[in-house]
Amino acid sequence: MNNPASIGLIGLGTMGTMLALNIAEKGFHIAVWNRTTTVTHEFKAEAGELASMITPTDTLADLVAAIKPPRSIILMVPAGPAVDDMIAALRPLLAPDDLIIDAGNALFHDTNRRSAEAEAHGPHFMGIGVSGGEEGARHGPAIMGGGLRSDWDRVAPVLDAIAAKYKGTPCANYMGPAGAGHFVKAVHNGIEYADMQMIAEVYGVMRDGMNMPPAEIAATFRAWNTGPLQSYLIEISAEVAAATDTHSGKPMLDMILDRAGQKGTGRWTVIEAQHLAAPIPAIEAAVMARNLSSRLDERIAGEAVFGAAPHPLNGALGLMRLEQAMIAGKILCYAQGFALISAASTAFNWPMPLPEIARVWREGCIIRSSMLNDMATALAEDPNRNLMLAPFFADHLKSTHTALRQTVAAGALHGLPVPALASGLSWFDMMRTGRSTANMIQAQRDFFGAHGFERVDGLPDKHGPWVGHGV
Ligand code: 6PG
Repeated sequence: MNNPASIGLIGLGTMGTMLALNIAEKGFHIAVWNRTTTVTHEFKAEAGELASMITPTDTLADLVAAIKPPRSIILMVPAGPAVDDMIAALRPLLAPDDLIIDAGNALFHDTNRRSAEAEAHGPHFMGIGVSGGEEGARHGPAIMGGGLRSDWDRVAPVLDAIAAKYKGTPCANYMGPAGAGHFVKAVHNGIEYADMQMIAEVYGVMRDGMNMPPAEIAATFRAWNTGPLQSYLIEISAEVAAATDTHSGKPMLDMILDRAGQKGTGRWTVIEAQHLAAPIPAIEAAVMARNLSSRLDERIAGEAVFGAAPHPLNGALGLMRLEQAMIAGKILCYAQGFALISAASTAFNWPMPLPEIARVWREGCIIRSSMLNDMATALAEDPNRNLMLAPFFADHLKSTHTALRQTVAAGALHGLPVPALASGLSWFDMMRTGRSTANMIQAQRDFFGAHGFERVDGLPDKHGPWVGHGV
């Protein structure tokens, strides 16, 4: 029998396996359990030199018995009812001060509910957002913790050890109570959707507007990855654009059906942003674009009726402008995401640490990029100021928004869809318009519903001369 384990893990799917190996590698003895027992034993058998740090268990009772109290058990099971089932199965086996940690992509409302249930019935419960895919889980993810601060402190030595490091600093931190960690992970995923969509849009401009073959597109992304756009997503976009299909010998990208999937985290972010009246149009556009992409038959029917857009740009836009447009779009998308977190902090009374969030995202996660360090600095200067107003990013936007404008305009004129870039631009233009057109909305509302308005001169009259004439 091994020494008692420091931590337990349930669910040896791809992510669970990788996380368990990461934990073992960092010197923590781990007990594991999987619904299919053969998987559990195979996992240990294939763990090589880490096998001595792993205790496979056949029942949940064995798992619980193998862990040193107070116990911490990580759940790596599919988000949704499986998490509730597992909590219900563990509850009778655990002591009140034991801790269950849901490390899946849970809807943060579920995490709030599970936290409240844990407070009423025990054991303790935390929801942590884990980003970085398979590779991140194995060698260092970004970790966003939610729950009781004291519970976070209890498992922080393990989570800090397994997390990615930015210049030695762990990309793991406490985000706030209950569902705060999963909320921040959802916003991370929303930004991930928008960042990916904007890259797909500029790829479309290059492919269809500039007639560039994938190899040239790959070289362009590779070059961009040495500048302000340096990021994991640009890096992998260069790699996928350069790849060749082993079956056909053609560029891999050309062989992939243009119908994007999703598991729902981006949609959750958009729904929550609407509830909070915190606009994130670039992210909304990205979710819309994924939904629309899946309507392949309708798109083909549309092309048959209206003819194929796009039309070549014929030099209307250069690659330098496209890069600048992407820089502006990226800043605007992150500014929207952080503004959503700020709105949620106030609405939920969760003081979520914006600069810390940017710091956690600097390494390990899917949206890691060199810009995030500058964002952390800007948010530390003033977490309540919109990121687009921070001098560093305002300067970047001043020098790039014209290129974004030209890209969106060229897209519109030549039939190249750029919805996330266009939404980012509209948001930017509204955010820099001191006198908007909502006076017209207020007048209309007052006309048909006597809803009243505020006057610019401060006079108390709240209605226009039309009140009483409305239909
Ligand atoms: C991450 C990713 C990861 C995954 C999501 C989104 O941070 O590691 O966000 O969690 O990519 O499940 O996937 P969908 O694109 O399927 O919604």
